[in-house]
Amino acid sequence: MRLQEEEEDPEWASYKLGIFICLNCSGIHRNLPEISRVKSLRLDFWESSLIEFMKNHGNLWAKAKYEAKVPPYYYIPKSCDCMVLRQQWISAKYERGEFLDTQVCQDPCSAGSREGCLWKLGKGRRQFQKRQFLLSAKEGVMKYYGKESKGPKAVISVETLNAMFQVEKIGHSHGLQITYITDGQTRNLFVYHESAKEIVDWFNAIRAARYHYLRTTFPNVPETELIPRITRSFVKEGYMEKTGPKQKEAFKVRWFSLDSQERNLMYFKNPLDAFAQGQVFIGRRDEGYEVRDDLPQKVCVKKKKPVITLVTPAREFVFLCENDSKQREWMDALNRIITQP
Ligand SMILES: *[C@@H]1O[C@H](CO)[C@@H](O)[C@H](O)[C@H]1NC(C)=O
Ligand SMILES: *[C@@H]1O[C@H](CO)[C@@H](O)[C@H](O)[C@H]1NC(C)=O
Repeated sequence: MRLQEEEEDPEWASYKLGIFICLNCSGIHRNLPEISRVKSLRLDFWESSLIEFMKNHGNLWAKAKYEAKVPPYYYIPKSCDCMVLRQQWISAKYERGEFLDTQVCQDPCSAGSREGCLWKLGKGRRQFQKRQFLLSAKEGVMKYYGKESKGPKAVISVETLNAMFQVEKIGHSHGLQITYITDGQTRNLFVYHESAKEIVDWFNAIRAARYHYLRTTFPNVPETELIPRITRSFVKEGYMEKTGPKQKEAFKVRWFSLDSQERNLMYFKNPLDAFAQGQVFIGRRDEGYEVRDDLPQKVCVKKKKPVITLVTPAREFVFLCENDSKQREWMDALNRIITQP
């Protein structure tokens, strides 16, 4: 059988749709028996009529049919993306037929308008509270409201709005982190919705609003440059220990989030804090930025842990990592930003 698939080694197939899929997607397809039926390429018996059916269909055929009209802002998940994104993509594509040729493609301005409730983590990080959210691509804002029906608690410009799924950090399989800039600082909101479809629809509505903003603000920027700027995920997150500016202070455990597009390394006392405790701009090598795996001169550290020294024109930051592989990952991630134009 000729495999028509981007996945390196698809070992499964949906014999109802006529497509080859990976193990992980086979689990998702199994839960949609109305539209998909799964067999293993190696372990299951294939009748000649099914083989013939697979030959006449295949992934390119399915893509042409089921992805005929994917809006430019719609997020197409990769294999590393979280479950809810992949599962909803498969449902949207095959079950709901949202991208069939017969569908009318919604314009970004109306797709970027949405109203409804989300569970939002409160300030004290103790509990999620049901809050009204309103997104308007036309006005270029997202708002959310407090318990009392007074004015909005925040009016967020779509200009700095970003959203990313954060399943582990939020501890919910539909957990979404929303960020925006207020008074020069990045503000985090952590939300979820019980419904997988709702939260993915919110995510794509935010993307539609961002796309509408970018398309109208930068009409001459080509689509291929615009799409990656719609939303972004942190390129690396995790715990490290850091000392203070004198480099003599006790090391404290902090949560770090690295934003490649903004060239910004933020650190938090708690991963779910609304605001960072501090942030470091990561410039280019020719501007004097550098990462090293040793300590600055005259600095000594009692703890036997792998070190990262981040050199910036203003000061040197010293971080301790949990182990060598974490040190490597952080250095690679920081180096990619330092060497990026
Ligand atoms: C697919 O991957 C997710 C993690 O992304 C995992 O939780 C799930 O168990 C996997 N499913 C299968 C069938 O491998
Ligand atoms: C390094 O530490 C992380 C936790 O911070 C752990 O998950 C990982 O397994 C460790 N790796 C090695 C090689 O010890």
